[in-house]
Amino acid sequence: MSRAAGWTEVGAQWDLDADGRFRLATITDWLPATTPPETQLRAVLGNAFDRWTAMTSAFARGRLFASRALLRAVVADHLGCDDSEIGIHTEPGRPPHARRHTAPAPVAISLSHTGDTLAVAVVNSGTVGIDIEASDRPIYTPTFAAAVAHPRELAQLAHLEPGERNTALVALWTMKESVLKARGTGLTVDPRRICVGLPTRDTASTTRYVAAPDGHRTRVATTTQHGLRISAAHNWRHHA
Ligand SMILES: CC(C)(COP(=O)(O)OP(=O)(O)OC[C@H]1O[C@@H](n2cnc3c(N)ncnc32)[C@H](O)[C@@H]1OP(=O)(O)O)[C@@H](O)C(=O)NCCC(=O)NCCS
Repeated sequence: MSRAAGWTEVGAQWDLDADGRFRLATITDWLPATTPPETQLRAVLGNAFDRWTAMTSAFARGRLFASRALLRAVVADHLGCDDSEIGIHTEPGRPPHARRHTAPAPVAISLSHTGDTLAVAVVNSGTVGIDIEASDRPIYTPTFAAAVAHPRELAQLAHLEPGERNTALVALWTMKESVLKARGTGLTVDPRRICVGLPTRDTASTTRYVAAPDGHRTRVATTTQHGLRISAAHNWRHHA
């Protein structure tokens, strides 16, 4: 727990081969009581300021602001500096990154939102992806499963009792999204091409490697906490 209870640690059992921080937070905990002045908005939002300005939904604006404020704080905490030294850079459909103003290289970060919850990740090396969904979100249909699962994963799902398939597919889906975020592609890559495999039924937390034909190795972990399925992936260039 901490910075004034502004976040909760996740993934204590994960072994992702990277020094990283994985945290959950509630949007309202990262919102100021009143809209900050433009200088502060620009400092927190970075290049997402124009996106924030164009938004008409108060919820969307609040979520965007809160996510950037949280990311800055988590990166600053990780690097041991002040939030004001951190800038967040994002482009639609691209992985976000953070930069300490005095540092030459960016820091890999990732972000996910569902409902009023934010999940963020930062790692020292390689790239990272994080994804969250409500554990009981009803997503299982044979059509959706066939659209996102690798043939081996479909076979694993078919072996489960019908009542277990939704929970398993939520886990699988978040693991895949975290892998695709860590690889920086998002859903521009067909998720059926990535075989992650269902998490083992008897453990709440799983960590495993995902094979990749592209010279990268990805390690993915998943767990449940606060009614959420939380998955994270770490990716680094494999020097054969
Ligand atoms: C990335 C993607 C998996 C996000 O999943 P989601 O369940 O919709 O949303 P989440 O809340 O979990 O994640 C959203 C965050 O993912 C991050 N993200 C977006 N594209 C990403 C990518 N290619 N790689 C890594 N992270 C990405 C962003 O930080 C985004 O938050 P932000 O919009 O506040 O900056 C999915 O939306 C996607 O693949 N998008 C790319 C394809 C696309 O839609 N292109 C059109 C771009 S205009």
